[in-house]
Amino acid sequence: MEIPRLHPDTIEEIKQRADIVDVISEHVVLRKRGKDFTGLCPFHDDKSPSFSVSPGKQFYYCFGCGAGGNAIKFMMEVGKRSFSDVVLDLARRYQVPIKTLEPAQKQELQRQISLREQLYEVLALTAKFYEHALQQPPGEAALAYLKATRQLSTETIQQFQLGYAPAGWQTLYGYLIEQKRYPVELVEKAGLIVTRPESKGYYDRFRDRLMIPIHDLQGRVIGFGGRSLGDEQPKYLNSPETELFDKGKTLYALDKARGAIAKTDKAIVVEGYFDVIALHAAGITNVVASLGTALSLHQVRQLLRYSESKQIVLNFDADAAGNKAAERAIGEVADLAYQGEVQLRVLNIPSGKDPDEFLKTHKPDDYLTLLKEAPLWLDWQIQQLLKDKDLSQADQFQQSTQEIVKLLGNLPNATLRTHYIHRCAELLSQNNAHLTLQLEGDLRTQVRGQRWHGRSQKWVRPGDRTLLEESEAQILRVYLHLHEYRTFIKEALDERDLDFSMGHHRFLWQQIMHIEKGLEESSEKDLAEKDLARSTPFDLISDLQDRCTDFPEKLPALYPLFQLDEKTKRDLLRSPLVIRAATACMERVMCEKRCRHFLNLWEKMDSALSPDLAQYYQQQIYAEKQRIAELDQQQRQTTFADLAQIPWVGEYYDALEAVQT
Ligand code: UTP
Ligand code: MN
Repeated sequence: MEIPRLHPDTIEEIKQRADIVDVISEHVVLRKRGKDFTGLCPFHDDKSPSFSVSPGKQFYYCFGCGAGGNAIKFMMEVGKRSFSDVVLDLARRYQVPIKTLEPAQKQELQRQISLREQLYEVLALTAKFYEHALQQPPGEAALAYLKATRQLSTETIQQFQLGYAPAGWQTLYGYLIEQKRYPVELVEKAGLIVTRPESKGYYDRFRDRLMIPIHDLQGRVIGFGGRSLGDEQPKYLNSPETELFDKGKTLYALDKARGAIAKTDKAIVVEGYFDVIALHAAGITNVVASLGTALSLHQVRQLLRYSESKQIVLNFDADAAGNKAAERAIGEVADLAYQGEVQLRVLNIPSGKDPDEFLKTHKPDDYLTLLKEAPLWLDWQIQQLLKDKDLSQADQFQQSTQEIVKLLGNLPNATLRTHYIHRCAELLSQNNAHLTLQLEGDLRTQVRGQRWHGRSQKWVRPGDRTLLEESEAQILRVYLHLHEYRTFIKEALDERDLDFSMGHHRFLWQQIMHIEKGLEESSEKDLAEKDLARSTPFDLISDLQDRCTDFPEKLPALYPLFQLDEKTKRDLLRSPLVIRAATACMERVMCEKRCRHFLNLWEKMDSALSPDLAQYYQQQIYAEKQRIAELDQQQRQTTFADLAQIPWVGEYYDALEAVQT
């Protein structure tokens, strides 16, 4: 592929958005010194930190070797990459739209834009045509079906722009092409007519069907679903993929649901068009459907944009097909879910009904009750795999244990793992306290084995970053919400010389330090009384929120730290453990960075020429590796004894022991 010439605006915007400290700290351990950051120079064999990064000037400079430049230059040099390669990479990372200068490409772009506009027009007109046809005599049966069988009101029919595609082979064809003079190719590209295999003619794709228009986020029609009114197969016929319509990227009714998703902070995904329509009609409007295809990661990410605490509920049919769809959807978002980036729940309506059927015999409030009780995806999966098992049979017990180990082995968060191991031990032992305790130990050993086993492929690279991100977030959350841990955290970070690597976390930490410094200064004058009153966690958070309103682009990343959900509340109960695990993770990442740095230098040098230097590098590499091994060892040993030190867990185990003896 030829490399397009980038528009100067694009390059300028990337320069403005890329943060040099973000970019460089992926390669170098940076430490804050005054306004700037320093570290070991990646471009020469630096023994004392002579490499300096200025966030204010967005510039780096090495006092040792004279290397210097902006973020783009750094990425070019450190990765030996071309300018356009780096720029495109940064554009992706910071979501800067790319504009190019190639005249041919520009024309092509324009052509596509005008085609799309024509397609929108033809589809909008078609939707009107179907709506109108629903009110005409040939649409009578369809209208009766909507009103009587589906019990939909006129308002709902209008709101969803439901319509009727008349029977006959060329009804729409006659209207759009003969009467309105739209080009045949355009109508075909819109997916509305189909060529006859033999002759050259065309016929309407949708005939004698109830028509459900599908809209994009701007509310423009981009395709249709058509339900047969009789026994005609398939029951639902959908528009094909077109220039405008991509099933994997579209969610039915998201245009109508997104406001409510943001407001309720939760998105419900159902299987069918009529499930959406029935729920919306019942006043539950944070509901969308996938389009007869498995829910894709892209669709999930779309939904997550609107829910601040990232809550998604899958409400698929409780039959085999629906469960399979739920399993597939979970598989699709498993990475996100395991990392805690989505709070996924599964709602199964009892007696295998879909939401549409359920609402015919129940009140909307009954649905909301079910919604409230919907289990988290992992609990649901555990339920599913234990559902038909007879645990008194050795082989079934064994199989269940193995499946559970496989599920839990993927959980990167140690605290959650501990929680679920305990929970599963209870389930497997069917509440026999003595057996529970023993099983818990077994499960823990097996899950650990599974983790070391499956680890190398799955979680190491991309996982590291999110694990680090989660660790940093956990520390910040404890700091914000539990002021009694603040000194402890500051000491833990200082002691091991740790700093936050994620740009938004570093930003927040600086703001916190700033506020606290201000407090110290003012309390010297104003006496301790006010200081005490202000040191509650609530005030720190509201001060931060005030300050952060000056940096609106940082808010989405920081908000989840200010507010707690179920999982993060659970984490707070185990703060000492969380702090220990999280600082270990941060330190491990630092060690790895340093290790890579020395390894790089060592590989590049000629050991025959300077054996001393070679030995020095080797020692450094060895030291870092040892520390990493130590940290891993500590992580593995975080077990019963540590848990028992934490008050509430201690009490719990004491109680257990009392029962046994
Ligand atoms: P269902 O068959 O579960 O439909 O398909 P439903 O919503 O309960 O149907 P009603 O209540 O009888 O009208 C669920 C969804 O799967 C897609 C459609 O998007 C449908 O809404 N589907 C189903 C198809 O795309 N094609 C089909 O033939 C069937
Ligand atoms: Mn149905």
